[in-house]
Amino acid sequence: MSNIDLDGRVAVVTGAGGGLGREHALLLASRGAKVVVNDLGGNRSGEGGGSEMADLVVNEITEAGGEAVANYASVADQEGAASIVQSALDAFGRVDVIINNAGILRDMTFAKLDAASLDLVLKVHLYGSFYVTMAAWPHLKEQGYGRIVNTTSGSGMYGNFGQSNYAAAKAGITGFTRTLAHEGRKYGINANVIAPIAASRMTEDIMPPALLERLQPENVSPLVTYLASEACTTTGDIFSVGGGYMARIAIVEGEGVAFDHTPTPEDVADRFDAIRTIGEYAEFQTGVMEQTGKIVTALGLDVS
Ligand code: NAI
Repeated sequence: MSNIDLDGRVAVVTGAGGGLGREHALLLASRGAKVVVNDLGGNRSGEGGGSEMADLVVNEITEAGGEAVANYASVADQEGAASIVQSALDAFGRVDVIINNAGILRDMTFAKLDAASLDLVLKVHLYGSFYVTMAAWPHLKEQGYGRIVNTTSGSGMYGNFGQSNYAAAKAGITGFTRTLAHEGRKYGINANVIAPIAASRMTEDIMPPALLERLQPENVSPLVTYLASEACTTTGDIFSVGGGYMARIAIVEGEGVAFDHTPTPEDVADRFDAIRTIGEYAEFQTGVMEQTGKIVTALGLDVS
């Protein structure tokens, strides 16, 4: 087995002041990457800001012998996002890896959703992923090499109660990533997307403590680090990952039904079961809870 190293590579990790992003930054740095630790330093809802979160992670990396610089800009602001990539260029002279991880929550049922909560969640997750990648893309293209790892969610794949804004943003990130994979292929730029499950301030009050204990975020970063490395040549894939469990998620289409005439709504009703039939696929997930349940079962966790 060959070592996975990122010697000489420069990685940008957004939202790296805590949770999953912090673990990604620490592992990437320990494998030789020079890292831009970006974090706005706000709370879970996206309010406030500060430099402390990013600075602490930079200190951790440098104390362990790695190289890192902090950036405190918001990914939701196009100029701020550009400054994150500029931090990489200024400090290390290049950029190779983009980990779009920054995120917030504004959970509420659709009936209660207000425009501000829709805008902010779309801005941070979806626009933020766009803005940072837009700033990096010309450099990746020019050098003929790049690795992009974006962050979706089971919510974006399957939907989740109270998360219409977040689910839409996360589903958008998956479509964005798969398009980047098409457009990046000829330039040596690979783009993949993860749907993680991990204990963090985002999930601390929605999962039982026994489960959170087993879903520490450092279990997600090895997949991210592999996807960010030159060793990994896959592109356009989606992965479920949490607690040491990893699986590819696929968007599949059934065999379908072909009518030999313009169908009527009644024809559709008659053949609806066949239209809905997917066939012999391994697993159907219907929600984030089911995604988490599969991880719990696969790992044999007792979380009762
Ligand atoms: P977290 O709240 O610990 O980390 C998110 C980080 O992003 C925070 O440090 C925050 O300060 C930063 N951030 C927020 N808005 C920002 C902005 N505008 N600009 C720069 N930084 C900003 O949460 P966690 O769990 O580590 O989440 C990381 C990513 O994983 C998010 O995209 C989240 O949606 C996604 N995710 C997490 C899951 C989980 O089970 N923890 C499940 C599915 C997806």
